[in-house]
Amino acid sequence: MCGIVGYVGGRPALDVVVGGLARLEYRGYDSAGVAVLADGKLATAKRAGKLANLRAALEEEPPPAGTLGMGHTRWATHGPPNDRNAHPHVDCTGSVAVIHNGIIENFAELRAELEEGGHGLESDTDTEAVAHLLEDELKSGGGLADAMRRVCRRLEGAFTLVAVHSGDPDLVVGARRNSPLVVGVGDGENFLASDVAAFIAHTRDAIELGQDQVVELRAAGVTVTDFEGRPAEVKEYHVDWDVSAAEKGGYDYFMLKEIAEQPRAVADTLLGRIGSDGRLHLDEMRISDRELREVDKIIIVACGTSYHAGLIAKYAIEHWAGLPCEVELASEFRYRDPILSPSTLVIAISQSGETMDALMAVRHAREQKAKLLGICNVNGSTLPRECDGVLYTHAGPEIAVASTKAFLTQLVAVYLIALYLAQVRGTKWGDEVFAMVQLLERMPEKVDKVLETMEPVRELARSLAGEHCVLFLGRHVGFPVALEGALKLKELAYMHAEGFAAGELKHGPIALIEENLPVVVVVPPRARDVLHDKIVSNIQEIRARGARTIVIAEEGDESVEPYADTLISVPPVPTLLQPLVTTVPLQVFACELATAKGHDVDQPRNLAKSVTVE
Ligand code: M6R
Repeated sequence: MCGIVGYVGGRPALDVVVGGLARLEYRGYDSAGVAVLADGKLATAKRAGKLANLRAALEEEPPPAGTLGMGHTRWATHGPPNDRNAHPHVDCTGSVAVIHNGIIENFAELRAELEEGGHGLESDTDTEAVAHLLEDELKSGGGLADAMRRVCRRLEGAFTLVAVHSGDPDLVVGARRNSPLVVGVGDGENFLASDVAAFIAHTRDAIELGQDQVVELRAAGVTVTDFEGRPAEVKEYHVDWDVSAAEKGGYDYFMLKEIAEQPRAVADTLLGRIGSDGRLHLDEMRISDRELREVDKIIIVACGTSYHAGLIAKYAIEHWAGLPCEVELASEFRYRDPILSPSTLVIAISQSGETMDALMAVRHAREQKAKLLGICNVNGSTLPRECDGVLYTHAGPEIAVASTKAFLTQLVAVYLIALYLAQVRGTKWGDEVFAMVQLLERMPEKVDKVLETMEPVRELARSLAGEHCVLFLGRHVGFPVALEGALKLKELAYMHAEGFAAGELKHGPIALIEENLPVVVVVPPRARDVLHDKIVSNIQEIRARGARTIVIAEEGDESVEPYADTLISVPPVPTLLQPLVTTVPLQVFACELATAKGHDVDQPRNLAKSVTVE
């Protein structure tokens, strides 16, 4: 979960690399560093803290100008985030530099072996061992790429590595196993990065690297092999968004921009899914209708916000497709004994497609012969490659660490899958599926309407900036929404926030209620009368015990007014689709409250956008 950039071409490498790092800072921002090759000499600079610290150091002491370089922005795994542990790491001769994303699991034994062989290691990192291993391998001849292949064969764990060597001043070498790396193909210049955002300002032509591959990047071209040196097949693709999508566009924070982009993101994710015959068609499904009819159980695996989308999917799949559906935290999945068979469909949801917990869950399911379907926002990432089928969300790049527009598009994706299953399995008539898709197509305008009415929510958030705890309650699909509201507040405002199923309240959590404690309650539509009435009773119960109630309910729901200290109205929509409108005020609430507390909402402490380690 670090950001990596590499460049070779005709421009000043430092500008390209630092510009790329600025777009990758969401992946980690504990420290940053660069290496440049100029006149056959290697120069490095690195600083703890955000990229701004490195920029200041580079201004004060500019490295020599060169046209080949690489850079790194770090989320610490081994060793605290200080200057010493920042990447790049160099070998004893100062001629090889390495940057790394991931964890090298056998680093302790490698380090011991290197120290015994006389190498002096200066940092606490696993990465530094690679620089010294390359140093040794280079002595046996064959050049940097050969040395990298030999070193990779010795490494255990997950890694993206990029290295340069002053002995070959036109070459950047990259390698990947279980960690992302994409190539940007330019004209007389080429790029390497953890994410296309790093080079999208220069080229939209990319190459997806497979597992266990090494790439040699020169200004004149790109060569890819496996770890044995055999030529590898690669997949070229064109990125369908441009640089403006990866910029703030006048907003103070990416998160604000991404919240505002939600109506568009929802509409784009629905685009092209309905054929002229009125039936749903899903891109890259690659699982036949016959196989889907044989499915007898669905298991959804995901983490964080994507897990919350999975919880909502369960309601839709069981209701529309009549299939039993379990939802599991991806990090827990393979450590129990999940019951899987060829008739189990495992759906993995991941915005980045690089979350290691999700990938490991998918691999475990693959071993048990289950069918695999991914829901993913990033073309060229690992998850779609490892699944039998994929449904892409079209949220565009999500840069802010807190997931917003990706979540709403994941909801659209799970609704589409549930309806598609209903269509192929015949649990709903074609016209019923079509009617629901038409309702989905009206959701962008509903989300837009919610966004237009958010000023009172922002005011409320500012007024609660001094609070220490906020609780969130919901029932049915409102329960995962409550969990999502609490997660947003935790990660952005660093406050104690908990989401509960409202019915569970009296089984314990109600003891938390005290005078003036803010409690946000997500109320289902009135059409679900039993559910609705139950939650109205829950609001009364907490209010009677002194809670300050913040109620999210559909417009015109007068029954909740007497019990709401603050009422947030959302447009009426069917119950199953309600998370698309009720989540938005909770995103705005968390973002504003965290901003009022002076936090950087795009880069909350201790977090990174993609969690590529387990
Ligand atoms: O890329 P993924 O969807 O797999 O990421 C999963 C979680 O790490 C992510 O949703 C995380 O919980 C967000 N920061 C929440 O806002």
